[in-house]
This record gives sequence, structure tokens and C-alpha cells, in this order.
Amino acid sequence: MKKRKAKILVTGSAGFIGSHVYDLLKSQEHEVYGVDDLSGGFMRNVSDKKRFTKLDLRDRDKTAAYIAKLKPDIIFHLAADATEGRSQFTPFSAIDRNIIAYTNLLVPAIKHGLKKMILTSSMSVYGAQQTPFHEDLIPQPEDIYGIAKTAMEQETKIMSKVYGFKYVIVRPHNVYGPRQNLSDPYRNVVGIFINRLLHSKNFYIYGDGKQKRAFSHINDVAPAMIRAAFSSKCEDKILNLGSDNPVTLNKLSRVVLEEFFGSDKIPAKFLPKKFPARLQEVKYAFSSHKVAERLIGTKVKVPLRSGVKDMISWARSLGPQPFVYLVSMDLEHDLSPSTWKAKLI
Ligand SMILES: NC(=O)c1ccc[n+]([C@@H]2O[C@H](COP(=O)([O-])OP(=O)(O)OC[C@H]3O[C@@H](n4cnc5c(N)ncnc54)[C@H](O)[C@@H]3O)[C@@H](O)[C@H]2O)c1
Repeated sequence: MKKRKAKILVTGSAGFIGSHVYDLLKSQEHEVYGVDDLSGGFMRNVSDKKRFTKLDLRDRDKTAAYIAKLKPDIIFHLAADATEGRSQFTPFSAIDRNIIAYTNLLVPAIKHGLKKMILTSSMSVYGAQQTPFHEDLIPQPEDIYGIAKTAMEQETKIMSKVYGFKYVIVRPHNVYGPRQNLSDPYRNVVGIFINRLLHSKNFYIYGDGKQKRAFSHINDVAPAMIRAAFSSKCEDKILNLGSDNPVTLNKLSRVVLEEFFGSDKIPAKFLPKKFPARLQEVKYAFSSHKVAERLIGTKVKVPLRSGVKDMISWARSLGPQPFVYLVSMDLEHDLSPSTWKAKLI
């Protein structure tokens, strides 16, 4: 008898990373379905409209009904409110779109025979510990988003022990590239920098710009997620995924400006303006990828400069995008960035 193909569900499939993961899975001839509520994703990212369903995972009944019908074998869970720096001011969204939405998905999926969950967590679980972060560190998140991701990881481990499905937890960081949401003023620093330049405006740097991050191109991250998902060596493991090349935000800003204008042609009015550091922002955050190298042989290939160039060329073809602000936050705070309060971005 012919073996039935595994049914794969990608949540957040209209989003940045989710749409790349979806397309790669499809190109590998998998039977793949996608859901997204389009709160941060776009239909332009959805290549396969027939297998796409607009679904808000916060809606428990609708999510249960969708899962009961599809009965996915494997889920790549990417749907999220991933605005880490804003999560102190919008904790309800950080909890509802992360922990609650995930539980609404996981429970019916278990009931209907889930075999494997690929949970997209985040480097935020490490908080402000010694860099480079390695997977053995005990999570010490510094923000509500990190708390939500930590809880989702723990929930996955416990439910897997009780109900017997396999899991892979991936912790990517600072992913950038084509299809990133350029309209979000609260996250995606590479996208914000480029979109400001497309609007012929300078961008802002919080603090002294000496914060360090390792920016990871989507063409490195999405394939690694899929390799990890299908490798038996990664079952019930946690893997950091991304670049090993930490740079300061000052350096990132130079690379973006040089690739946008040409190295000797940066007009003075586009030099970044400095703003006070953001509350709870971790200064040094980058990870070790030894586990991923050992288990799936990942090697990061896209250098920052060529990755930024590739993203600028995609963003130019899309054109300047409006920045979209929330109407209100759960908690207003005197010290929330003035770039947000005064809608300067
Ligand atoms: N981009 C990064 O640097 C990065 C780093 C670490 C982890 N992650 C994680 O990777 C995943 C994807 O992030 P991304 O950068 O592609 O963000 P994204 O915002 O582009 O994608 C998330 C998608 O989830 C959708 N979504 C949000 N709430 C939903 C809900 N209630 N129901 C259904 N869909 C919903 C959004 O519409 C969006 O399309 C997230 O889980 C994020 O936490 C991203």
C-alpha cells in the first residue's frame, strides 16, 4: 500500500519567515497548508492561495474546527506577535498571540494525531546572560515576549512527554531579508532602516549603537529550520539558528547606508539620529550555533553586506511602505520610546 504523505501545517504562513518556510516545503513536494490572520503578514507572501486559510489562532473554536478537519501530522508554528521591544507595553497581545494562540493550536492537534511540532521560539529566552548564548543556559527572559516563548517551550516539552509527539524547538535571531514586514515601526531594525531611506528620511538608533546582534539572512535560516524538522537527530532538541557574526548597530547602520547610497555617497542628512536606550533592551545578544552545526551541519553562507544588498533591492521593488502604528497600547509609559509616541519613524 502506498504510504500517505504527511500533512504539514505552517502557521504564520503569510509572514516573513513562515512564507519562506512554506515555499521551501512546497518546492520539496510536501503536502503543505498555511494559516495566518494577516495581522502582521500579507497576501502577497502567500504563493498557494488554495491551501491558505485566514485564521486567527486566538479563536479557540475556529482553530479547533480547522485542525479537526485538516488533522496535520507536522506543524511548523511561526504565528506570533514577535514585537519583543514593545511587549512590555502590549503584554496582552504578547500573551494572547503567543501562549494562548499556541495552546489553542496544540490541544486539538494532539487530539487529532500530531506527530511532530516544530516550535519557533527565539533567542529572547536567554535574556541578558553571557554571550554567546548556548542551548544549555537556563532561560532568563528580560521581556514579556521572551517569557511567552519560554512558556511555549516548556509547554511543548511537557505535552510531548505526556502525549508522545516529537518536537524540535528552534531559536532563531535577528532574521532579515525579502518579505520582512517593512511597515512595523516596533521591530525589524533592518527593515525600518531601509524603509526610512526609501521615504528619503534618516533613521534612529536607540542608545549608543554599541548593542551587538548577529543578523541572519532568511536564506540561511529557513532551510536550516526545515533540515532540523526532518532530522531524527534533532528530535526533542533545542537549536539556536542563525549567523555567528555579531556586529554593532552602528556597523549595521553603516552597511545599510553604504549599500543604499554607495560607500562615498552618503548624504549627511541621512546619518542616523541617536535616541535614548530602550527599556529592557539587552545590550549584547548573539548565540552559539555549535549544536546546529553538529546536528544538521549548518553553515551560514550569506554575508551581512550581500544580504543587506539583496534586501534593499527587494524593498526598492516594493517601494516605500507606510509605517503602521497601534491605535493604543495596554500600558502607556513615560519612558516608552518617543519615536513611537510621537510617531517619528
Ligand atoms: N524575525 C526574527 O528575527 C525572529 C527571531 C526569532 C524568532 N522569530 C519567530 O519567528 C516567527 C516568525 O516571525 P517573523 O519575523 O516571520 O514575523 P511575522 O510577523 O512576519 O510573522 C508572524 C505571522 O504570524 C501571524 N499571526 C500573528 N498572530 C496570529 C494569530 N493570532 N493567528 C494567526 N496568525 C497570526 C502574523 O499575521 C504574521 O504573518 C515568530 O514566531 C517569531 O517569534 C523571529
